[in-house]
Formats: sequence, C-alpha cells, structure tokens
Amino acid sequence: MSAALPNSTSPHSVLVVGSGGREHALVRALLASPAKPRIVCAPGNAGIAQDAPCFPIAADDIAGLVALVQRETIAFVVVGPEVPLSLGLVDALEKIGVPAYGPKADGARLEASKIYTKEILQKYGIPTAPAAFFADADAAIAYLRARSAPIVVKADGLAAGKGVVVAQTHAAAEAAVRSLLALPAQSKIQNRKSKILLEDCLVGEETSLLVVVSGRDYVILPTSQDHKRIGDGDTGPNTGGMGTYSPADVVTPELLARIDREIVRPSVDAIAAEGIVFRGTLFIGIMLTADGPSVLEYNTRFGDPETQVVLPRIASDVLALLWAAARGKLAGTPIAVRPDHAVCVVIAARGYPDTYPKGEPIVFPPTADLPPSTFIYHAGTAKNSAGQIVTAGGRVLGVTALAPTLRAAADRAYAACEQIQCASKYFRRDIGARQLNRR
Ligand code: AMP
Ligand code: GLY
Repeated sequence: MSAALPNSTSPHSVLVVGSGGREHALVRALLASPAKPRIVCAPGNAGIAQDAPCFPIAADDIAGLVALVQRETIAFVVVGPEVPLSLGLVDALEKIGVPAYGPKADGARLEASKIYTKEILQKYGIPTAPAAFFADADAAIAYLRARSAPIVVKADGLAAGKGVVVAQTHAAAEAAVRSLLALPAQSKIQNRKSKILLEDCLVGEETSLLVVVSGRDYVILPTSQDHKRIGDGDTGPNTGGMGTYSPADVVTPELLARIDREIVRPSVDAIAAEGIVFRGTLFIGIMLTADGPSVLEYNTRFGDPETQVVLPRIASDVLALLWAAARGKLAGTPIAVRPDHAVCVVIAARGYPDTYPKGEPIVFPPTADLPPSTFIYHAGTAKNSAGQIVTAGGRVLGVTALAPTLRAAADRAYAACEQIQCASKYFRRDIGARQLNRR
C-alpha cells in the first residue's frame, strides 16, 4: 500500500473518523495544511460533506473503517470519538501498517474506565479527589454515610456524559448509587459487572487541557474552558458542552507551569510506565481548587467543543503535529499560537440534553455575510431527501469566532448565531461571561 509518498514528510490522504463539531474543526484544520492532503471523513455530517468527501461508515464499525482505509489507500487516520478508540480501531490499523492519531485500546481505557484512571492517579501520586470503588450498593451506601455531602457518584464506564452525579445530599447520593449500579454495563466495551466510584467533591473552576502526546513527548495545546450545563449561569443538567473559549485566562502562565509539573508530566510518565505507548490527545479535566489543580478525569481524544476553539488558534501545521505524534516523532515539534481569543457557541435543538426534535431545516446566511473570522462547524446535521440541511442531533452547530479580545470574539459568534435560522434553535447567551466578568 502506498502509505506516504516517498520522501514526503506528510501523508497524502487522511481519514478523519467521527461526525461532530470536533471532527468538522479537525477536517478544516487539516485542510489548511500547506501539504494540501486529500482529506476524507467517515461518517461525517452535512457540513463536513461541504468540505470533504464523506463515507457512510459508522464510527464504531471497526471492520468497515479498516476496509475503507484499504480501499481508499488512506495513509493516516485521525480518530475523533472515544468509542472507536476503545473498540481497538487504532490497534486494527496498526495491523495493516497505517499510522493513526489516537491511542490504542490500552490507552483508551484511561477514558473508558474511571476506576482504572483513579488507580493510576493514586499509584503515581497525581493530585485527584479521594475516592473508593464499589460493585455492591449496600457497601457503597455504608461508605457514603460516613462521608460528608456533597459527594460525587460516578459510573465506571463510558456513559456519554450521563455517568456522573454530583449529589448535594446523602439521599441524592444513595439514589444515584442505586441507579448507576443498575445501568447495564456497556456490552460491547465492557462486558463485566457495573461498578461505581464515590469521590469527594472538589470546588473550583474547571479547565480542559488538551495535550498532544507521543510516548514520553508532549505538546500542551492552548488552554480553554467549557460550559457544561445547559442553562445560562451554569444551571440545569450537564451536557456534552454548550460553548468554550480559549485562552482560559484563569490558567495563568505560572499556573500552567504548575499544572505541567504536577499533572501533565507525571501523567505522561505514568502512562508510559504502565507500558502504554500513547499517541494521541490526552484531555485532562482539571479542577482548580484552593489547594491547587486536581485531576477530574482523563479523556483520550480531543474535546468537543474545546477543539472548535483550540484548533483555530493554532497557526502552525496541525497535520504535521498529529502526523509527528502518531509516528513517535513529536520531540521538538513547535506549535505557533495566534494571540486572538476564540469563542465557540453551541447551537442545540431545544430540549437537549433530553428529548428534542430532529429533521428541522436550518437556514444559513451566505458565508460572505458572516462576521469576519467566524466559522460554522456542523455537528448534528444531515441532508433530507429534498436536499435541505436539517437538524439530526442534540448539539447541531458550533459557531466559532476569533478576534483580538474575548468580548469581540463573543460578539462575532453571537452575531452569527442570530443569522442562523432554525425553529428549535437554542443556545446559551453567556458563553465567556465568567472570564469577561472577571476583568
Ligand atoms: P468527569 O466525567 O469525571 O469529568 O465528570 C463530569 C463532570 O462532573 C465534571 O466535568 C465536573 O463538572 C463534575 N465532577 C466530576 N468529579 C467531580 C468532583 N470530584 N468534584 C466536583 N465535581 C466533579
Ligand atoms: N467538552 C467535554 C468533552 O469533550 O468531554
């Protein structure tokens, strides 16, 4: 197979796996590479299809994706979501000699099992909340009665954001214990008994740190903060993420140096010491507590919608960065970051994260009418039989804008949100407000 062109420092044909706003941002960033690669996506969405050929193969169809890679002579695969990583897509690609950006199943376990991650954090002395693990509800309840509320109850496995309950009272914690232990263990990924963690509640601001890792080498990407709750003022249920901004000024250069020293370097070394050759994004969820930064979780992929603000701020070649990481050649790869601030406002279908309508037409302004430096990333969109772009998911679009100040970036993103028409359009009005109010 013609993997890479002879003497070429970059792959000529790249597959992005996934169908969200994150993958649209990845496709755009890779298309901007001076190497001018051919970029394709599977399965993609209606917006990605405007930028790159899309193949209707689901992100969890490992055999289908491997066959696509062979058929299309793909030289490099960039994996967006966690599920194909956990299912061993990168392991399967390695068997056919195709480099991929994203960890193999052993590394993906750092996201797929919160207990495994907690054990690693504890073993290597990396700051994290004290926790205990249970498979039995009565034992869990006895433990939590001896702790003070609030207390955090977490399902061990991948639960698409629904596996964590920050319980304000013992009664709520007990209810969460019973309901999370009753969850079916995710059959494809973990056919073992459900387990839960009970974890002390940390107080502070959260930040998402995306780190491009290749073995013991790594590059920390620009900082960002997500807005996880559905409602303005951080109210209502948790979602996959309703908006982001970058940089996160709360992470000062001094604090970032501390996070690097106390969390990033020890995490990368711990993963390597466990025998995992990790080549992909280590997304570290960090709580900035009064006692210092503390790890909430690892994800083993780019964040969504963090990626939609982080990648547009990278001025250097993102393809070269990921390609170097995937082949163990990251050491010394510099990245150049634009000084601009970026804001991403997620447009969701009203009702998300519960039930919401699908199939509603979306009307976009002509690109020339958008504010400058504004990008509309598609997430849950599809084309209907009449050729209209319609809603097809809870999070529908991510509208990102860049500008010299956070205020100007937010103004641009919100102006673009107003230009987009859709009957069930819902978005938070306060993305970036916390940082703006701090000034
Ligand atoms: P996780 O998937 O483990 O990051 O948890 C999802 C969300 O739950 C986090 O982004 C936090 O907002 C919250 N959370 C998780 N663990 C804790 C904790 N120990 N203390 C306070 N909040 C937490
Ligand atoms: N925005 C949070 C995540 O991607 O998990």
